[in-house]
Amino acid sequence: MKGSSTCAALWLAWIVVSFQVLGAATNCKVQLQKPPAIFLFGDGMLDVGNNNYLNSTEEFGDPLRANHSYYGIDFPNSEATGRFSNGYNIADVIAKALGLGISPKAYLSLPVPISMVGFTGANYASEGARIWDTFYADDSTQVTIPLLEQVDKFVATKAQKEPKLGRSELLKLLSNSIFLLSFGTTDLFHVWYLQNLMAKNDQANVQYLLSSYGVGIKALFDAGARKFAVINVPPIGCRPVGEMPWRSRGYVRGRCDESKNKLAMEFNNGLRRLLASLSSELHGFRYSVADLYGFANATFVNPSAAGFVNTNTQCCANPCMPGFGGPCENRSQYWFWDYSYPTEKAAKLAAAAFYDGPAQFTVPINFKKLVQRK
Ligand SMILES: *[C@@H]1O[C@H](CO)[C@@H](O)[C@H](O)[C@H]1NC(C)=O
Ligand SMILES: *[C@@H]1O[C@H](CO)[C@@H](O)[C@H](O)[C@H]1NC(C)=O
Ligand SMILES: *[C@@H]1O[C@H](CO)[C@@H](O)[C@H](O)[C@H]1NC(C)=O
Ligand SMILES: *[C@@H]1O[C@H](CO)[C@@H](O)[C@H](O)[C@H]1NC(C)=O
Repeated sequence: MKGSSTCAALWLAWIVVSFQVLGAATNCKVQLQKPPAIFLFGDGMLDVGNNNYLNSTEEFGDPLRANHSYYGIDFPNSEATGRFSNGYNIADVIAKALGLGISPKAYLSLPVPISMVGFTGANYASEGARIWDTFYADDSTQVTIPLLEQVDKFVATKAQKEPKLGRSELLKLLSNSIFLLSFGTTDLFHVWYLQNLMAKNDQANVQYLLSSYGVGIKALFDAGARKFAVINVPPIGCRPVGEMPWRSRGYVRGRCDESKNKLAMEFNNGLRRLLASLSSELHGFRYSVADLYGFANATFVNPSAAGFVNTNTQCCANPCMPGFGGPCENRSQYWFWDYSYPTEKAAKLAAAAFYDGPAQFTVPINFKKLVQRK
């Protein structure tokens, strides 16, 4: 309790003496409210290397991996860790804003049982991950870890921790932790494909996709998660040129595909409603939806305001590896690093907006307030 008495003293000094210690007192408060851990679920936006450990299959081939140059070119020692970024990704910069260093390690890289030493959570995200377990009527299925499998892996983590912490300590840790989610993009490409094939299939329906997302979120809640930070889908119709072939159907080079953006907006509107309804249904459910769509859109309208020179094309050629054309010289001038994911610069700006930025980019509260919520 030494920390809190120091804080109390600082606050008292602030009240009694002057405004000069305000800065110190504020820092102290932030430190005390650091969440015990962050658990991450999603696709390549948050993956920090799980796909390196997934085995290829005969049916679907290799998973998409970022464990080779030029990925990580701006990471310490230019290490290609499996992050789909030139450096740190959104998982890292959000963990950093929360006071937890960088993203906890990829779940599949952790020893079993997971050590308590330096434990700050675990990252289950996997590039290509979808809300649905399987896709019907599509040729784009990838080797990945879909939502409910990520949830299962979290439940396995919990089971490894329980003997060490005891049940009530563990539930306390989980209820104060942040659960960061980023899903939807992979599924929406599938939805778009089905809709444009006029397929009569449940999976052509965004509302059905959202109800499947709700099942996963509820499963996390049932496992002890309380604080959900959910990143919505970006304008998926504005992906850069040089697409992965399996995702490039219907693309018009260099322009945004409004039919895909419309699907993304429908998903994002439904996502806000879904979380609002879960929070009225489930006692103790807290959430923040981060508007990546709105943030990207605002940046694309006025790129130079944030120092971007290019928000249309990717910095690194496709595939992003030696022999196919190098990456752009100045990574901080680009929004897109590769066929889908942002540069470290874009990730940092988005994370700052979600953590403690203008109210327009988070609903109903920002990540900082989510941490503080009881
Ligand atoms: C990949 O295959 C190896 C060897 O069969 C196995 O030990 C490992 O558990 C597999 N990895 C995953 C993530 O299933
Ligand atoms: C990336 O990971 C795969 C699977 O573990 C491995 O076969 C491959 O050699 C790795 N690539 C590099 C450049 O390390
Ligand atoms: C995207 O930006 C345009 C131009 O500022 C604005 O009119 C539109 O409402 C924005 N769309 C979304 C979904 O934020
Ligand atoms: C890279 O771009 C950023 C943002 O436009 C700029 O501030 C910086 O000076 C550039 N760096 C170099 C080495 O040109």
